[in-house]
Amino acid sequence: MAEFRLPKNSRIQKGRHFPAPEGSKKVRTFRIYRWDPDSGENPRIDTYDLDLEQCGPMVLDAVIKIKNEIDPTLTFRRSCREGICGSCAFNIDGTNTLACTKAIEDVKGDVKIYPLPHMPVIKDLVPDLTHFYAQYASIKPWIRTQSPAPPDKERLQSREDRARVDGLYECILCACCSTSCPSYWWNGERYLGPAILLQAYRWLVDSRDEATGERLDELDDPFRLYRCHTIMNCAKTCPKGLNPAKAIAEIKKMMLARHSL
Ligand code: SF4
Ligand code: SF4
Ligand code: FES
Repeated sequence: MAEFRLPKNSRIQKGRHFPAPEGSKKVRTFRIYRWDPDSGENPRIDTYDLDLEQCGPMVLDAVIKIKNEIDPTLTFRRSCREGICGSCAFNIDGTNTLACTKAIEDVKGDVKIYPLPHMPVIKDLVPDLTHFYAQYASIKPWIRTQSPAPPDKERLQSREDRARVDGLYECILCACCSTSCPSYWWNGERYLGPAILLQAYRWLVDSRDEATGERLDELDDPFRLYRCHTIMNCAKTCPKGLNPAKAIAEIKKMMLARHSL
């Protein structure tokens, strides 16, 4: 996991400045973190002045415009452009959020864009999410059953059972919450963090799943689950309005009930 960490003692150095074209009427400044590990240089902050009259309204529109028209070396992830894929998560104006759903006009002053914090950086705004995805795979995020499937229909749910995954299934695994969680910053190697625990709870409460006991056993570990100290950064930052801290509290309740059986 540490493969792409910044070199020790690295300092952010002065970056390049790209002024807005002459005649621009509505200029806004974007300051963007740049680091290319292959260059051997320290990270820098590059400054781009854009004419907002020639740019879409979202932070992702500005970043795409910079890449397309000013500086093709700027590296970032994005796909859906409408808050569904989770790939454009950056730290914008001090908060982890999705660039495609963050309006430029909602940021006061210069728009400062960094990669998600406390993750190894591959390049510029691209964090290395290998460990995060391995943690996701570790909770076995699929329906686990022992009983044979009905021969002529799907495994059905009542409306009430289906409603139990509301507030959970909407998670797009953007990692904004986990990378805002101090417990995950310091113990991320072993603590699953809010995103993965919310996903774990999503399968624990799915009425079609028949592995609740195994799932709880797999989480019953001082690090995997119990590093959450209810600091609530996760719920505050989630761009989909979800509450991972609540899901974690519910898992702890299920664990208590299991232990008192
Ligand atoms: S809970 Fe919210 S912030 Fe966390 S990964 Fe899911 S969508 Fe992103
Ligand atoms: S409530 Fe738990 S998971 Fe959420 S930020 Fe705090 S410690 Fe992390
Ligand atoms: S580009 Fe898909 S969530 Fe932003």
